[in-house]
Amino acid sequence: MAETDQKDAPRATANRSTTPGSDAFKEYISQGWAERPSRATGPREQAAFAAERRARISALHPTARVVIPAGPAKQRSNDTDYPYRAHSAFAHLTGWGSDTVPGSVLVLEPRSSGAGEPDGHDAVLYFREAAGRDSDEFYANPEIGEFWTGPRPTADDVAADLALATRGLGDLESVLDSLDADTILVREADPAITERVDAQRLLLAGPTAADADADPEAALGERVERDADLARDLSELRLVKDAFEIEQMRLAVAATRQGFDDVIADLPEIVAHPRGERLVEGSFDRRARAEGNTVGYDTIAASGPHACILHWTRNDGPVLPGDLILIDAGVELESYYTADITRTLPVSGSFTEVQRRVYEAVREAADAAFAIVRPGIRFREIHAAAMEVIARRTAEWGLLPVSAEEALQPDGGQHRRYMVHGTSHHLGLDVHDCAQARRDLYLDGILEPGMVFTIEPGLYFQPDDLTVPEEYRGIGVRIEDDVLVTADGCESLSAGIPRTADEVEAWMARGAR
Ligand code: GLY
Ligand code: MN
Repeated sequence: MAETDQKDAPRATANRSTTPGSDAFKEYISQGWAERPSRATGPREQAAFAAERRARISALHPTARVVIPAGPAKQRSNDTDYPYRAHSAFAHLTGWGSDTVPGSVLVLEPRSSGAGEPDGHDAVLYFREAAGRDSDEFYANPEIGEFWTGPRPTADDVAADLALATRGLGDLESVLDSLDADTILVREADPAITERVDAQRLLLAGPTAADADADPEAALGERVERDADLARDLSELRLVKDAFEIEQMRLAVAATRQGFDDVIADLPEIVAHPRGERLVEGSFDRRARAEGNTVGYDTIAASGPHACILHWTRNDGPVLPGDLILIDAGVELESYYTADITRTLPVSGSFTEVQRRVYEAVREAADAAFAIVRPGIRFREIHAAAMEVIARRTAEWGLLPVSAEEALQPDGGQHRRYMVHGTSHHLGLDVHDCAQARRDLYLDGILEPGMVFTIEPGLYFQPDDLTVPEEYRGIGVRIEDDVLVTADGCESLSAGIPRTADEVEAWMARGAR
């Protein structure tokens, strides 16, 4: 029987290695195993969509070999890892989600026609297949062995599920050793692969450079720029969602709604605990794990003045009667698509007069943003529409040193003291999706049907802000919905989650679940 290759399990230490080494044991454990039936269920619904996405990347890079790693498991501490998450570009182009085998790599190999013209790409998915019982991996390797982390699919199963050609990870070695100059890759996904590709590129740049001034580092610089172009293209490919993605977003929002219902149902217990915010996080997480893969980002459970800390994820404070609690959370499905919803709830069930005033101003800002969303407007106009309301309301309350009109001038912005973040971001596989898209297509981009993004204005009055009357201090409100651009307007995917102050109070009175 083959011994475990320690390169495959670098963190297995002698102190934890209690696997018997006797020949009798090895002989005995290698036999008596039944054949496994295929686990393939036929092409997944997303397979055809992923093929279409690959075709679009192929058309943008007709001659390049394109390398898209899923990425390795990431170490948390010593021999424990973070829960595995494949790179979003890999998930997008393969349709493989939470059951991705860590370390997989998608390679698009350029084809050429008989006349030498580019002719699309062949997609090959390299991954670590199920290990046979003729190796000791299955029982002796805590990182990847079947007895430790569960069985892996066979190449045939993955090929059938994703409608992709598959090969073992070992075959990737010869691909990486024989790269030509026209190779581009997703750099951030797998540092070890990036290092290998760069090393190969330097080798190629050196001996083949004819003139004496040839500078391998500069040659690499040019390659890195081409990698950045690929990252941009992969991001921009996700700006408009296809039918599969839109359905996933609906499902993610529906599961998220259940998570918020759970939090409301658990409020009595939450209020009774000194770290109630943690219980909020736990209630939501329970639902996210039950209905989806996990949360799409760390839940923000921000009670009282914590709501003024935009990304409060420590969540170790109490949830006190009379305060508001801002909950920003989203369920990520097994396909990795995530919702991103914020609701701000009055812990006691009803808003005070000042809390309601702030809440309804934020809702008015969100409504103003919703009202303009349709194909043809610019993405940044959504923010401007919301900010106009924020400026007018804060001016009306006497909080600004200038008029709303002055604050809204390019050289003003005083109202932004109370809302320093943007109003919208694209949403999908990543909570902040399409992050490497060009500004021309994102912030300055024109809306198209199929785009999905958030509308999430807020008002945050820091507890030590001397520019606001005391009654406002420590109040933070954000209302965040997920929006789909339609042919002639938009649809709020989260319209079913109570949103106005009255609806929120009724929701809490019902004690949802
Ligand atoms: N949900 C957190 C954010 O959008 O930044
Ligand atoms: Mn958001």
